[in-house]
Amino acid sequence: MCGIVGYVGGRPALDVVVEGLARLEYRGYDSAGVAVLADGKLATAKRAGKLVNLRGALEEEPPPEGTLGMGHTRWATHGAPNDRNAHPHVDCTGSVAVIHNGIIENFAELRAELEEGGHRLLSDTDTEAVAHLLEDEVKAGGGLVEAMRRVCGRLEGAFTLVAVHTGDPDLVVGARRNSPLVVGVGEGENFLASDVAAFIAHTRDAIELGQDQIVELRADGVTVTDFEGRPADVKEYHVDWDVSAAEKGGFDYFMLKEIAEQPRAVADTLLGRIGTDGRLHLDEMRIPDRELREVDKIIIVACGTSYHAGLIAKYAIEHWAGLPCEVELASEFRYRDPILSPTTLVIAISQSGETMDALMAVRHAREQKAKLLGICNVNGSTLPRECDGVLYTHAGPEIAVASTKAFLTQLVAVYLIALYIAQVRGTKWGDEVFAMVQLLERMPEKVEKVLETMEPVRELARSLSNERCVLFLGRHVGFPVALEGALKLKELAYMHAEGFAAGELKHGPIALIEEGLPVVVVVPPRAREVLHDKIVSNIQEIRARGARTIVIAEDGDESVEPYADTLIAVPAVPTLLQPLVTTVPLQVFACELATAKGHDVDQPRNLAKSVTVE
Ligand code: F6R
Repeated sequence: MCGIVGYVGGRPALDVVVEGLARLEYRGYDSAGVAVLADGKLATAKRAGKLVNLRGALEEEPPPEGTLGMGHTRWATHGAPNDRNAHPHVDCTGSVAVIHNGIIENFAELRAELEEGGHRLLSDTDTEAVAHLLEDEVKAGGGLVEAMRRVCGRLEGAFTLVAVHTGDPDLVVGARRNSPLVVGVGEGENFLASDVAAFIAHTRDAIELGQDQIVELRADGVTVTDFEGRPADVKEYHVDWDVSAAEKGGFDYFMLKEIAEQPRAVADTLLGRIGTDGRLHLDEMRIPDRELREVDKIIIVACGTSYHAGLIAKYAIEHWAGLPCEVELASEFRYRDPILSPTTLVIAISQSGETMDALMAVRHAREQKAKLLGICNVNGSTLPRECDGVLYTHAGPEIAVASTKAFLTQLVAVYLIALYIAQVRGTKWGDEVFAMVQLLERMPEKVEKVLETMEPVRELARSLSNERCVLFLGRHVGFPVALEGALKLKELAYMHAEGFAAGELKHGPIALIEEGLPVVVVVPPRAREVLHDKIVSNIQEIRARGARTIVIAEDGDESVEPYADTLIAVPAVPTLLQPLVTTVPLQVFACELATAKGHDVDQPRNLAKSVTVE
């Protein structure tokens, strides 16, 4: 939930660290802080609020220039988001500074023990306990690395820690359990960060750290050991995108850029997965076909927008692969005694690969011996390491807090998986799979078409900026799309928005309809006659009760015209693929409406991009 940067090398550390924080601000923006080691002394600065406040403070009172430093951008868990609770935290002597991402669960007893031992703790955070524990352990001897190892042995919960000590002015130490931390390997300089975006302007060579590892970072080298002090196996990799992917590229917001990138993201996620023989090749899934044939149940776990992708996956998996499929919110999964076995395939969907609820669900499924497949967008993140196989979505870095292009690529990934299982199990003939794959390959062009016609949607959004509530209705795969449209509006425009299955309308929600209430309705293709006609009746029912109907329907669907106050036409595509085109207007709608209300759409209040705490 927080962003962490560490640097040691030849340049002014403060510049590198603040620039890194700017790229990580999506991870949390309640407060920000930095520490720099210069002339054997530690200088820190921290401010509540967004990074801009810290920048102002640093301009007013620049710290001495040093070539080793670290920085933190916070999403508050323990203690209010004020200056005092902002990281870094220092020990009693002012010689150790520490930053942290995660939650230290036994912090209360550690703080009590430290206070009893005479330490003065100045913040309300769990993190500060670590600074004082390090103080004691450094005094006990063995240096900062050894001290960190001993302290980690005392901590419970999730943590990524980075610490520096005046006694070893060339060293940055990091420790990782459960929260992300990657190393950037440069020439005569090295970096540590929660995400490669922080150092991508300087190097694209990275090292992925594993669970319970400690990294010793110096300008001329990086050493990784485990919590017992043994050399650790690490995975080096080259980041396949560059700094331009992590910049706004002329757009006012990352979200606008990411919406616009969707045709490319969809195409990239299909790339290399369709053989010249028309068959799907998903070797990276690393689950042998023999085992896939034995699977008798699929359970999908995910949170938020990724959960909505999971809901759509259920329709595709049951229809194409003929397997029963359940979809569960990851945060609920392990609390309901799910029945799993070695023939259950659990698919975890997560853009970040760091969502703690998803990781805990995966660990629970592993304990029950289920097979595990991840769908993930971030190379080097935790989820793929914990699954038997992974299918990466190639959306590129998604920086806006609200997920857009990651969602569309998750849909592509679940379609590919469903079709692949159908191919392996023979529930669809080869030519049927190939025909659907060919339609999938045309989707980037269809999404592009939607994007070209969005001006009326933007106008509509601006005209609704004073509304208090918007409802969304859908049927079949249009229902998760309605949920996604409502989620986007809640998180960006802070409006009351609800998504309903249109068939449920008469079982309660219709009581909400009143004169002028905007209701967005996602209409299935005409080819699905029964579904289509039912929803057209629903539109008439709500309109008769005064709703202002905003209808998303396929191009040329004249049957809805008489009942639509606003009609948004999308290209005609097969039913199961329709979410790829019907979601886009809802993303644009929420983004524009939030902008009209004057909100920061990239960093909505109270949110952070990856939720690394339960
Ligand atoms: C909404 C949004 C969140 C995430 C959710 C899961 O726009 O972005 O609802 O979808 O926090 O995150 P990941 O996919 O990283 O596990």
